[in-house]
Amino acid sequence: MTHTTTGSRFTLDDHLDGTDFGATLAEDVHRGLTFSPKQLPPKYFYDANGSALFERITELPEYYPTRAERALLERIAAGLMAQLCPAEIVELGSGSASKTRVLLSAPSAPEHLRRYVPFDVSPTIIRDSSLALLAQFPFLQVHGVVGDFERHLDQVPPSQGGRLVLFLGGTIGNLSPEERTRFLRDVSGLLEPGDHLLVGMDMVKEQSVIEAAYDDAAGVTAAFNRNVLRVLNRELGATFDPEAFEHRAFFNREASRIEMHLVARVAQTVLIPALDMTVHLAAGESIWTESSYKFTPDSARAALAAAGLRLDELFVHEPADERFCLALARLP
Ligand code: SAH
Ligand code: TRP
Repeated sequence: MTHTTTGSRFTLDDHLDGTDFGATLAEDVHRGLTFSPKQLPPKYFYDANGSALFERITELPEYYPTRAERALLERIAAGLMAQLCPAEIVELGSGSASKTRVLLSAPSAPEHLRRYVPFDVSPTIIRDSSLALLAQFPFLQVHGVVGDFERHLDQVPPSQGGRLVLFLGGTIGNLSPEERTRFLRDVSGLLEPGDHLLVGMDMVKEQSVIEAAYDDAAGVTAAFNRNVLRVLNRELGATFDPEAFEHRAFFNREASRIEMHLVARVAQTVLIPALDMTVHLAAGESIWTESSYKFTPDSARAALAAAGLRLDELFVHEPADERFCLALARLP
């Protein structure tokens, strides 16, 4: 079901209201928890509480990706916007769009940019960020889309001219290689010749730096990880005790990814009434909740090529402990 609300400069489409979201959640959770090893899909982290916790993660001293990506955007924004002159920016997994402001504030933007299309699974974050951007950028129309970027990319409104698609925050790293290729192919369907995609990718670096970013001293990331269990309790009537799980994050160098797990502190049985399901966990058994792949210049190029996209330029933020890149790609 799709619900549309329209104002003079603001349109909002919601593809997740009603029963569809609940049915997909139920299916995903059932599949993930019957799988061995047990796993849960990361998009369910982001209810209102999860989105707020993620915002706190971006401000942590250990979490370098947000700082690094912002610094890189600040370096390239004016030149890039003047060069591409996009009429619209479509942003997937837009979140609070706090770094997007760097691009929207480029000196050339009021001359060519007409519309911003934020796309996110979280309705609260789309609404809040859209209202803030409408107030800050009087030249902009905002067309928000609440949807799942793995299922609803065909719901992005038709292009209004030169388009720049953004996928920031290293969120591409949260997709498995197969999901990533499928997703990038779908994204290429949003591009016309002359349009561009700008993707933020976190880069391989010292293990201790990566691991600290996903296991901070203040425990915010641990709370964020456990929040997915609260979502299951609320949406499916599950009986998880979040505190009975330990947050664990480690870098798997062979697979080039950080893995996030919730490890059962003691043996436990959890009921999930909405799925008619009983889940047993042994002491020390884990639920794999998220991966975050890290890239090199070569693997970044290969990831785009696998989906038929051509890397135009790779902008790299160079400090060894904050290496992060923005890949500018287009149709071949
Ligand atoms: N771009 C922001 C937020 C990154 S966090 C930044 O760089 O800081 C990842 C964002 O993607 C969250 O806002 C989350 O709600 C959204 N998201 C995660 N999975 C999604 C999915 N399957 N479809 C749409 N949005 C998703
Ligand atoms: N896209 C973010 C990343 O991979 C998401 C993220 C940051 C995250 N910290 C997290 C996901 C902790 C789960 C748990 O960096």
